[in-house]
Amino acid sequence: MAKSKKSPGLEIDPRGGTPREKCETKITGLDTILNGGLPLGNTVLLAGTVGSGKTTMAMEFLINGAKRGETTCFISVTEPASKLLENLRTYGFFDDEIIKEGKLNIFDYQIIRDRLGVETNEYTARDMEALLSAFEDIVDELGATRLVIDSITAICYQMPSPGVIRNFVFRLGQFLSSFGCTTLLISETVVEGMIQKYSVFGVEEAVADGIILLGNINRKGDLLRSLQVVKMRGTKHSRSRHVVELTPMGLSIVPLLKWGSEDNQRFG
Ligand SMILES: Nc1ncnc2c1ncn2[C@@H]1O[C@H](COP(=O)(O)OP(=O)(O)OP(=O)(O)O)[C@@H](O)[C@H]1O
Ligand SMILES: [Mg+2]
Repeated sequence: MAKSKKSPGLEIDPRGGTPREKCETKITGLDTILNGGLPLGNTVLLAGTVGSGKTTMAMEFLINGAKRGETTCFISVTEPASKLLENLRTYGFFDDEIIKEGKLNIFDYQIIRDRLGVETNEYTARDMEALLSAFEDIVDELGATRLVIDSITAICYQMPSPGVIRNFVFRLGQFLSSFGCTTLLISETVVEGMIQKYSVFGVEEAVADGIILLGNINRKGDLLRSLQVVKMRGTKHSRSRHVVELTPMGLSIVPLLKWGSEDNQRFG
């Protein structure tokens, strides 16, 4: 009898049930936390404070897919593509070939806006529909299986109401899921009183399939980067806080315990 083989990226649940297929991030330590990877087609909020490593992590996620032959797409809302590439070239995991081969596609948001003919900073519901179609066309035409929008916060600032934001994020997620495109929406975190919010408007985090939180731990004057998976529909996962080591070779995520006990810590 042929031995059953464990297919890569597929979560095996010994108690039965039908496992969701996984999109392996191949970021050191992250797939273990996620029990194999991100559920394929999930739209995940990658939330964090300034400088917590959001763009780098999202880029590594795309590049690891591109190196495996996937077509990936990065939509940059907050910085020009040329500057993004300049920074990206300082990392050892980047390779110009994946751009030349069309495996990593970087889009300037300004170009998308110009094409749509949107000139104001406040979108109408009609502009939102046009933007949604533009994103869908990009993913469809490229056949992208991994997408990053950096950041969803900047786009949401241009939406007229929370209702429009909800509609936008929900419908975008619905399309991407049907397309099997696994997506990271980068989100700025805010603290209101004692409450940590994973997104500025609140609706983004409710609609997203998952939330990965990047933050800071102040340890005897050193600011360590941290990662915690807050929610991830479609899989079991660790909810422990981990330490992120951001090196020129990319991210490495290790259990917090390795760093000893926490003192003087705060969420960034
Ligand atoms: N080549 C490199 N090797 C290692 N670390 C780097 C390198 N380049 C930048 N960094 C670190 O990464 C940090 C920036 O990371 P990144 O841009 O991914 O954060 P971010 O959360 O996207 O920031 P922002 O909120 O400004 O968009 C820098 O502050 C620096 O500490
Ligand atoms: Mg960034």
